[in-house]
Amino acid sequence: MAETRYLQSPDAYSREHLVEMGARMLAVANDLKRDAHILAEELRMDTDLVRSVLAGEASPADALSLMESMAHTYPVSMRELWVDVADTRGGVLVMSAEASERSGRVYQRTDGHGQSHPYFEYRDTAMSRTGPYKPEYVRPLRHVDDADPSNPVLAYNKGHLLHQLTFYVGAVNVYWEQGGQRHCRQMRTGDSSYMTPFVPHSFAHRGADSDGYILAITYTGEVEPAIATFGRQTSADLVALAGDARDEAQLLAALMTRVLAARSMDAEQLAQALIEQGIAPTRSAGLASGEGPAPTEEERRALGACLGLGPDYFTVHGMTGDQEVAIKQADNGLSRAYPHGGVAAYEIADLASTPHQPNLCGFNVRVLADASVEGVFRHHFHEYVYNYGPAPALLHVNGEVHDLPHGASAYVAPFKPHHFTASGQDAHLLVVRVSGALNEAAIREFSSYAPGRERVARETTRWF
Ligand SMILES: [Fe+2]
Repeated sequence: MAETRYLQSPDAYSREHLVEMGARMLAVANDLKRDAHILAEELRMDTDLVRSVLAGEASPADALSLMESMAHTYPVSMRELWVDVADTRGGVLVMSAEASERSGRVYQRTDGHGQSHPYFEYRDTAMSRTGPYKPEYVRPLRHVDDADPSNPVLAYNKGHLLHQLTFYVGAVNVYWEQGGQRHCRQMRTGDSSYMTPFVPHSFAHRGADSDGYILAITYTGEVEPAIATFGRQTSADLVALAGDARDEAQLLAALMTRVLAARSMDAEQLAQALIEQGIAPTRSAGLASGEGPAPTEEERRALGACLGLGPDYFTVHGMTGDQEVAIKQADNGLSRAYPHGGVAAYEIADLASTPHQPNLCGFNVRVLADASVEGVFRHHFHEYVYNYGPAPALLHVNGEVHDLPHGASAYVAPFKPHHFTASGQDAHLLVVRVSGALNEAAIREFSSYAPGRERVARETTRWF
């Protein structure tokens, strides 16, 4: 496989890509109740040319020209029409340790003494534009000998929009700010942390005589894909709309406020409807405005009946402090064999997780040397792999075998059956899986679509 570099000139469009873009444009034209003939007439293009673009048979220039013309003419966004250029081969991408090393950049940060010092070295590791994450190797360049979160050598960031699962190798301290307080934990190889977006944080190397780095798997959740819509609202509206998960009672009040506003219904009207559903008049007003105790099962059913929603809609989960920043230390964790029962190929230990991020799972995987079974993985998440141990591993996928020595990393697309092996010595891999847009909410919605739903992303005919 060709070495992965991110700074190369874009490849020519493949036929497959043009077919995908044609299908996407056809799907959007369908939604606008336009066929190739009407498209051509309204966009003043040749009908045969439009047909050939939609079939993926025209040149890239013609495809882009139709796309641009559609985005300018109709109320559709370029984002609906565009299909990203594939940067994987068969859904797989491997980055060598050398390529990662060559991508290294050192950033200076200003510490508590007001002095600027080299603070982090960042290196790219395997990432694909089809995947939801941007994993980096980060080497903290400031050393500390304590666990003081106010140590003046530290420089905290402001926090960021991406979620972050961090895996620690060697002696590294993690620092963060939460509820106006600074915290520190001393981490070792195999430990991990999950950090909620916008929690300010920092890392430092502990002790000058040992090695230490982190793998920072930053990834997008469900807000980032909606960021253009978020950007068109005021911050005050967004904050009031959502409430704060740190205060569960307020969360329910915010939910009821937005549900009622969306339906142009006021709380008294809902309270009256709740009384008709058998809710006591003394409770109905509080329930309608999301005040007082969390609704019981019966109350949630009554709310659902009044508003045309399921009872689960009114269950809210506040966030505890140890979910906002979740720490998992390797020696507190259990590991399991995979496949289970009989001979195993791996020992797997779960990394830090939170119920607020069900679309994330990370593992510390020990690939057992010379295992007599294949531990095949196949799932719907995007998978990131980094070999942090001394022994090399092999990645088997698409009938090919890729070397994954120390420092190499890989991306594997959803649904790709793949497995890892090691010979002579156990290999140690960090494996992180993130759902991206193929998340539970999308999957559950898709499950409700009528037969014919297999056309979802491959519309090739006129449906109306
Ligand atoms: Fe970060």
